[in-house]
Amino acid sequence: MTAPAVTVVEVGPRDGLQNEPAPVTVDDRVRLVEDLAAAGLARIEVGSFVSPRWVPQMAGTADVLTRVPPRPGLTRAVLVPNETGLAAALQAGADEIAVFAAASETFSRKNTNGSIAEVLARFEPVAAGARAAGVPLRGYVSCVLGCPYEGAVPVAAVVHVAERLVALGCREVSLGDTIGVGTPGAARAMTAAVVAAIGASRVALHFHDTYGQALANVYACLDLGITVVDSAVAGLGGCPYAKGASGNLATEDLVTMLEGLGLETGVDLDAVIRAGDRISQILGRPTGSKTARARLGR
Ligand code: HMG
Ligand code: MG
Repeated sequence: MTAPAVTVVEVGPRDGLQNEPAPVTVDDRVRLVEDLAAAGLARIEVGSFVSPRWVPQMAGTADVLTRVPPRPGLTRAVLVPNETGLAAALQAGADEIAVFAAASETFSRKNTNGSIAEVLARFEPVAAGARAAGVPLRGYVSCVLGCPYEGAVPVAAVVHVAERLVALGCREVSLGDTIGVGTPGAARAMTAAVVAAIGASRVALHFHDTYGQALANVYACLDLGITVVDSAVAGLGGCPYAKGASGNLATEDLVTMLEGLGLETGVDLDAVIRAGDRISQILGRPTGSKTARARLGR
């Protein structure tokens, strides 16, 4: 099998379901992850080990992880905010740990109850623990193209946090347009600055689609050498601490564009559409993917 030209990181079971008003059962979360794995998505964020008081939707992530057994060719990643989360993630057998910081001070406090510097300091023992356990580390930067509280976010702030995450040992830094306010020119300029600082092979794109710009933003950045893009099946998503943040870029729409560009992803589009249809029916609402809507004729 040839390596995909672009690796799609599926974040729906975490970034999508963390924002659902009604809790989704562990059974349905396990089924979603299994459906996505069967569709060829090789990296899936299955949940998070955060405080259940802050994000009750992600309680039960340990059960989801243990019920989706490890297998060759599948990376089951989880989000972790501190050492408590790391211990739980390692205990449950996570294949990859993701830490998350922000480029905006106010968002950092609202999302993780600490300044940017405090949150980065919290990650030092997390990174050391992941390294000792031989588990790869990913880092997120939130609010890379705007903050729900502060508005504009300087590119220099994004570059600074990305460099700090790499210094901590993150093999990859995912650039989060948390509230989906970016447009292609700004997305490309910000991504180019981060690529210049840490190298394209370490950069992933994570764009929300609030203003319908996420796909255009990815397209504008691809030729900077980007090979990893995050998306969520059915365009699920949002962030509980970013009001107005609608779904992530839909996996179905991303795969359609990449296929159209002749970029191999290894993902079976029809199977992702079926996975998205199933979870959308469970959630009782229409899919956020235009591709899925067109193909399903709804
Ligand atoms: P805090 O209240 O300052 O934490 O929250 P604390 O250390 O003072 O602990 C308070 C209580 O929480 C204690 O329990 C701890 O044990 C417990 P108590 O003694 O009161 O019963 N606790 C935990 N329980 C389970 N798992 C843990 C954990 N840690 C503490 N890991 C904290 C600080 C960081 C924990 C909190 O703010 C938090 O959990 N925040 C997470 C928020 C979140 O998940 N946001 C969504 C994900 S980020 C996102 O979506 C953006 C992204 O997609 C990229 C993008 O789009 O930009 C990644
Ligand atoms: Mg996100």
